[in-house]
Amino acid sequence: MSRRTRNIILGIIGIGIIGFIVFQSIPAGSISADFASPGNPPVTYTIPWDSPQTETLARSACFDCHSNETHYPWYSNIAPMAWLVNHDINEGRRKMNFSTNTHLFSDEMEKQIDSGEMPKNVYLPLHPEANLTAEQKKQLIDGLIATFGVDDFNGG
Ligand code: HEC
Repeated sequence: MSRRTRNIILGIIGIGIIGFIVFQSIPAGSISADFASPGNPPVTYTIPWDSPQTETLARSACFDCHSNETHYPWYSNIAPMAWLVNHDINEGRRKMNFSTNTHLFSDEMEKQIDSGEMPKNVYLPLHPEANLTAEQKKQLIDGLIATFGVDDFNGG
């Protein structure tokens, strides 16, 4: 390796390290409110689960982004991963929140699970327990319908 090549590689590594450090010092909320961690506000709704199995499946596959009982992973403190994680949680909770009875419509959930949209793909490699089998997906959908009913879609 020539000295020139080596200097270029060291330069790139140096810029990467400096960039990483600069990222850590940027207040996430100053870029977008959704990049800031929303923490875990109080749970204000008790779900009348039809069975412990439904609760377990929903907690494994949905609760980190759609409840106020998020388990924040270690990388949720490190930018820029933190911004992506926080963004999904902020947006996910706005769309549907098990902890506050926000838009809990089983038809909508079924559509998202059936189509493979939810749980989001990006979440699965580091959360294998959310990678439901076809059998588990069916159990979850049936349980969500039993818990939340079928007639609420578009009801609010
Ligand atoms: C990694 C975070 C994450 C997980 C895990 C997750 N969601 Fe979501 N969900 C989101 C985000 C972000 C949105 C809103 C934007 C979008 O559709 O990507 C959303 C949107 C939704 C919506 C509304 C769709 C719409 O277009 O209005 C439903 C319903 C939903 N999710 C159901 C579920 C269910 C059921 C599970 C578990 C099987 C689940 N989600 C797991 C992040 C997540």
